[in-house]
Amino acid sequence: MVDPSEAVLCDVLIIGCGIAGATAALHLAEENPDLRIILITKAESPLESNTYYAQGGIIYRGDEDSPEQLAEDLLRAGDYMNNRQAVEILAVEGPQLVRELLIEKYQVPFTLDANQHLERTREAAHSTSRILHVSDATGMAIQEKLVAALRAHPNIEILTSHSAVDLLTPAHHSLNRLSIYEPLSCVGAYVLDHASGQVLPYLAKATLLASGGLGQIFLHTTNPPGATGDGLAMAYRAGARIINAEYVQFHPTTFYHQGQAHFLITEACRGEGARLLNYQGQPFMHRYDPEWGDLAPRDVVARSIHLEMLRTNAPHVYLDIASVMPAHKIIERFPTIYHKCLEYDVDPTREPIPVVPAAHYFCGGVWVDAWGRTNLERLYAAGEVSCTGVHGANRLGSASLLEGLVWGMRAAKDILRRLPDFPSPDPHTIPPWEEEGVTETADPALVKHDMATIKHTMWYYVGLVRSRKRLERALRDLSNLQQDIDAFYRTTRLDPDILSLRNAALAANIVARAAWENRESRGCHYREN
Ligand code: FUM
Repeated sequence: MVDPSEAVLCDVLIIGCGIAGATAALHLAEENPDLRIILITKAESPLESNTYYAQGGIIYRGDEDSPEQLAEDLLRAGDYMNNRQAVEILAVEGPQLVRELLIEKYQVPFTLDANQHLERTREAAHSTSRILHVSDATGMAIQEKLVAALRAHPNIEILTSHSAVDLLTPAHHSLNRLSIYEPLSCVGAYVLDHASGQVLPYLAKATLLASGGLGQIFLHTTNPPGATGDGLAMAYRAGARIINAEYVQFHPTTFYHQGQAHFLITEACRGEGARLLNYQGQPFMHRYDPEWGDLAPRDVVARSIHLEMLRTNAPHVYLDIASVMPAHKIIERFPTIYHKCLEYDVDPTREPIPVVPAAHYFCGGVWVDAWGRTNLERLYAAGEVSCTGVHGANRLGSASLLEGLVWGMRAAKDILRRLPDFPSPDPHTIPPWEEEGVTETADPALVKHDMATIKHTMWYYVGLVRSRKRLERALRDLSNLQQDIDAFYRTTRLDPDILSLRNAALAANIVARAAWENRESRGCHYREN
């Protein structure tokens, strides 16, 4: 049993610090200042998250817009595989929360138009201009405001460089063997402090997983290094239900340089009129989607680029914004992209930008209900790690920050309602972290190469276009690799890279298996045969 002085006790443990985790933490803290809320992130800064890198924006409402119109756009982009209840919640509550929280309360400096009104832009598959943005660095501006608010709250502790190792579930971990007869529940997590190397149990009445996505299991991705599917893998090990894992969205346009995808080129560029050109400089999207052309849903555009690259035997296509926007406007509207492109000697005000698709967003995840509840009692999930079903088989652009905001808030509300009935976990029933058998330190080269194997396997066999043969090969290779990684995980001193690798291997297996099981091409899951 763990010495109670060695366990960290809190009311709510939040794993992940992006818009979903931060929104939940802030609402909990404001509604009940007596709560002890611990928010952990494996990053060195609480700013670092997928939220921070979101360029395009967040859905608000357009002129003449309505929740019904937004819902229809979400459904059409999602290939009608969406959970309609979740879509309705997002379409009704989302824009209200943007106004109340982001515009009025946290005063995110959204870009204004010439009349000093909020400027609304458009992205692919939106039927109207309804997206708020802060130039092309919207996520950064939102995250900065949220983190400043988190830091100002005395009852929120932010622990950076802390990785959750595994969720604590009495059925798996309790010293009381009779716990296996109870419904699955979560009482916190084992947490690794990167600085000390120590793993301690963090015991909580409620736990919220808000740890983001898994783009890093693919060779090319728009996601930051931390997006290794940790939450998905931990939830799976704990017995959580995972759904829609085959639906990984590939963003059509990331900057291409020497065989690599480097950074996101926001879809808002096409929303403002930029056109995709093939290697020969010709527009091509009208051939693949005569109705929507360059503004077709993301899955269609990404696949069309892939096919056009194959057809023309080209390593990339181009995005031309210089022909449709004056130089000063490009620099003003897309300063981040402009400066990043210049670093690679591409001037977007004068020449087309080389682009390729890259893994961008996980539309599946840990199943949650309308309040962010998983199938484990006292375990909630929100944001990219979760699957509300709002995105169906393919996400509508700028809907992810909105979903994090809405379900972060909903999870917090449900936790507040139910917390008085949640028992305090008993430290006497939880074993300390097991160190016996740990004899080795990690070989960094092995860790790096295993990660590279996962990324290559996922990119080539579980990528934009899938087939039975490719998926079967991926499953064979990934399950062998996972066995090896699990074996050395048990004998090796933990560090953040090993944890990420172990989680990435499992996340890759989950995605590959779901893709293999589902033979129907829908949204961003496309099977050749
Ligand atoms: O293109 C973009 O700016 C991406 C937006 C999003 O993923 O929602």
